[in-house]
Amino acid sequence: MMVHSSVSSVVNNPIATEFLASCRLTVDAELDRLIPKESESPQRVHSAIRWSVFAGGKRFRPALLMAVGQTFGAPPDHLLRTACALEMIHTYSLIHDDLPSMDNDDLRRGRATCHVKFDEATAILAGDALQALAFQTIAEDEELAPALRIRLVAEVARASGVPEGMVAGQALDLEAESRDVKGDELETIHHQKTGALIRAAARCGAMIAGANEPELEAITAYATNLGLLFQITDDLLDVTATAEDLGKTPGKDARAQKATFPAVHGIEVTRQRIALAHRTSHEAIARLVCPTGKLSMIADFILERKA
Ligand code: IPE
Ligand code: IPE
Ligand code: MG
Ligand code: MG
Ligand code: MG
Repeated sequence: MMVHSSVSSVVNNPIATEFLASCRLTVDAELDRLIPKESESPQRVHSAIRWSVFAGGKRFRPALLMAVGQTFGAPPDHLLRTACALEMIHTYSLIHDDLPSMDNDDLRRGRATCHVKFDEATAILAGDALQALAFQTIAEDEELAPALRIRLVAEVARASGVPEGMVAGQALDLEAESRDVKGDELETIHHQKTGALIRAAARCGAMIAGANEPELEAITAYATNLGLLFQITDDLLDVTATAEDLGKTPGKDARAQKATFPAVHGIEVTRQRIALAHRTSHEAIARLVCPTGKLSMIADFILERKA
C-alpha cells in the first residue's frame, strides 16, 4: 500500500506520533474490512474508492474521535466503526472537492486524484458510495445500542449536509470565488466546509463514551476551534508548503481566487488567528476533570502539522 504523509513527517512529538500511527493502523485495518474488495462488482467503483481511501491521509478525524472517546472512558471497540465512517465521509468530500467542476485538482494524498486516475463519473459514484457506506457502517454497528446509533447517524448527517454542514460550506466556498468576502463570512465557510465534520468527530467520540452535557459542551467548543485551526492551517500550507510535503498542489488557492485566510487577511494576521484558535481550543477543555493530555496533544498536532 502506498502511503503519503506518514505521521512522523507531520509532527515532532513522539507520543503524538505513536498515538496517531496506532489509530491509523487500527482504522486502516477496519476500513479494509468494511470496504468491498476490488475484485467485487462493480470493480471500477470499488477500485476507485480504494485508490482514494488507501492513498494515505492523516486519519485525523478518526484519531480525534478516538482521543475524545478514550478521554471519557469509551472502549476502543465502541469507537472504531464511527471513526471509520467519519473517514469515509471525509474521503468522499475530498474526491468531490477535487472534481473539475469544483477545485479541479489532479494531485491528492500524493497520487493522481480519483477522476484523473479513473474518470469523472466513477469519481462521483465512488464519493456517493462512500457516503452511503458511512451511514450504513454506523447503523449496523452492533457494539452500540440502537438509540445511540440513531443519534450518531443524525450527528454525522447534520455535519455532512445542509444548511450548516460540509456541503453548505463547499457551496459557499465555490460561490466566494467570484466575489470579495468579509472576515466573518470566511470564518462561516471554514466552520462549515471543514469545521462541521471535525466537530462531529469529536462529539461522536463523546456521545459514544456517554459524556454528560457540560462535557459535550466543552468538547464542542474545543472542536469548533480545532476545525477553524485546521482549515486556516490548510490555507497557510497552500501558500508555504511544497507539493512533496502536502501531497497536493500548493498555490492553487490563489490561482483559483479562493477565499482563504492569507488572501483576505495576509500571512501575519493568519498566523495570529491560528494562535488564537489553538489557545481557545486548549481553554475549552481546561475545566474538564478527566485527564486531557490526548486532547491537548491533538490541538498541538494541528498547530504544528506540515502536511
Ligand atoms: C484536507 O483534509 C481537506 C481539508 C478539509 C482541509 P486533511 O488535511 O485531513 O487531508 P488528509 O485526510 O490528511 O489527506
Ligand atoms: C476542503 O477545502 C474542504 C472539504 C470539504 C474537502 P480545500 O479545498 O481547501 O481542501 P484541499 O486543500 O483541496 O485539501
Ligand atoms: Mg475546496
Ligand atoms: Mg480543494
Ligand atoms: Mg486547501
